[in-house]
Amino acid sequence: MKKPVPVIAIDGTAASGKGTMARRLATHLDYAYLDTGLLYRRVAYTLFEKGLPFEEADAALQAARTLDATKLDDPALRGPEAGRGSSIVAAMPTVRLALYDFQREFPAKSGKPGAILDGRDIGTVIFPEAILKFYVDADQAERARRRHKELLGQGLDVFYEKVLEDMKIRDARDAGRPDAPMKAAPDAIHIDTTHMGPDEVFQEALKYIQDR
Ligand code: DC
Repeated sequence: MKKPVPVIAIDGTAASGKGTMARRLATHLDYAYLDTGLLYRRVAYTLFEKGLPFEEADAALQAARTLDATKLDDPALRGPEAGRGSSIVAAMPTVRLALYDFQREFPAKSGKPGAILDGRDIGTVIFPEAILKFYVDADQAERARRRHKELLGQGLDVFYEKVLEDMKIRDARDAGRPDAPMKAAPDAIHIDTTHMGPDEVFQEALKYIQDR
């Protein structure tokens, strides 16, 4: 039997810095990287493009089943519509199940010596056997500030208060859904990035990898 490709699972809250940390670690280790949030964003954005409400469960399932994983680099997926809709479709067990195989098969199909996946349920549901698990978080107000800055950088004219409000709703929805809620695996290493810059976060994570 072929040896399984080692997986590092990185879960955590929105705008906690987990994506930047995951990307940098993947480059450093020459591992494949999958931002699983983009899968849910892709599903939501497909509904948005069709003018359908995000609550349309049959259409969401259809979008998940026919998802084209080569189209995850569309900048629109980073925008507010996809962001808002993604936490709605991510609460649908049928959508989560439809995206399960793609995530499970990603490491072996990548052709790389290992893979890093980031999301909300990677260490708990998708890869409970991951060789290393991180849970990345930061204060909600700080995360809203980071997201606000990011949206302004995209040329969007949004108020900080609105970003904070949206973040509260999304955090509650992601953590409160019955199926695969956002939570740390019992064996996850916690990193609080509230007072840390991206370099510090990267170095901190690297320490755990080197100590393994
Ligand atoms: O990390 P992100 O903001 O791109 O995630 C978008 C949404 O998808 C977010 O509301 C949580 C959800 N998500 C999830 O439920 N499970 C994952 N593995 C990744 C993201």
